[in-house]
Amino acid sequence: MADGSSHFAFTKAVETATASVWNKVSAQVTPLEWRLQAPLIAEINRLKREKNAVILAHNYMTPEIFHGVGDFVGDSLGLAREAARSDARVIVQAGVHFMAETSKVLCPDKTVLIPDLQAGCSLAASITAADVRLIKQRYPGLPVVTYVNTTAAVKAETDICCTSANAVQVVEWAAREFGVDRVILLPDEFLARNVARQTDIGIIAWQGRCEVHERFTVADIAEMRESWPDAQILAHPECPPEVLEACDFAGSTAAMSDYVTTRKPRQVVLITECSMADNVACDAPDTQFVRPCNLCPHMKRITLENIHDALAYGRHEVTIDADIAERARLAVQRMIDMPPPATPARYDLVKARHHVDIELI
Ligand code: 13P
Ligand code: SF4
Repeated sequence: MADGSSHFAFTKAVETATASVWNKVSAQVTPLEWRLQAPLIAEINRLKREKNAVILAHNYMTPEIFHGVGDFVGDSLGLAREAARSDARVIVQAGVHFMAETSKVLCPDKTVLIPDLQAGCSLAASITAADVRLIKQRYPGLPVVTYVNTTAAVKAETDICCTSANAVQVVEWAAREFGVDRVILLPDEFLARNVARQTDIGIIAWQGRCEVHERFTVADIAEMRESWPDAQILAHPECPPEVLEACDFAGSTAAMSDYVTTRKPRQVVLITECSMADNVACDAPDTQFVRPCNLCPHMKRITLENIHDALAYGRHEVTIDADIAERARLAVQRMIDMPPPATPARYDLVKARHHVDIELI
């Protein structure tokens, strides 16, 4: 299995054990693929029971992972909350490295595994703990909010974390708590610009970018509108602000998923990573998905094969220096302790169309 080849057969028992998953994913997965995937799904689910493990799967995982082996699925805020409340001995993070670090920070006594150590993130790579220390020297007294898409070492330097699902709420909390009218929000420039349009709090930002969402343009949206005039266009707030301005809805990956499954639009365009539409489509058979997506190469490093190897051989274990983990935990726990929104937070598109200046470091 370590070489990625499957030695499990598609037996009758496997077919029966995975029938409910096949019912769900059969519109997104070919029968040929399924004969290779189903034995691995059955074996991974057996290993989870044997090892007392859970798999936390992000919305950008491919459907056979998301629907086949994920015990908890969702956006980065939802997965962090699940990690915090899990009583399993082992957590396998089907997502990228910063998500696994967040789980480890919240669950220091559990074994946290990431199936591929190279599953990074352009935002997490854009800033270091030393950068944050310098920023704090430059802006003494201002709270530092960091996006969860950062390393544990960066989180350790900050006051509170946020995700795209609660960034506005967290920025306003930080301003209130520190008695200030400006907040430092790191490291995603576009998220910061999008948040700035939703609040009266001034935003100081860093020039990090998500390599997936920065590629979407207003011209892409205009093309979509022309080709699919009835489609609802939904975007992730890591996209440039001009893209959000042109869309019908903006929110975290969970908010987008919730929008489609509850409102059931006839046609939809998800301006985000490719697997998102595949996963939501499994739960929204009456919606037609137009798919102008960009792939996240980091998320796509996670496969059924390396999830199997993670469980079978205990690799790759995520470890964090105890002092860094302790300080990062304060920032993550503060976020977790905030009351969860009744429905996933959405960006107000009327406000999103008002241009607001931010200070770029
Ligand atoms: P969510 O918090 O919306 O799941 O986004 C995480 C991410 O990496 C998006 O690119
Ligand atoms: Fe990072 Fe963007 Fe990939 Fe999300 S989609 S993990 S923000 S590079």
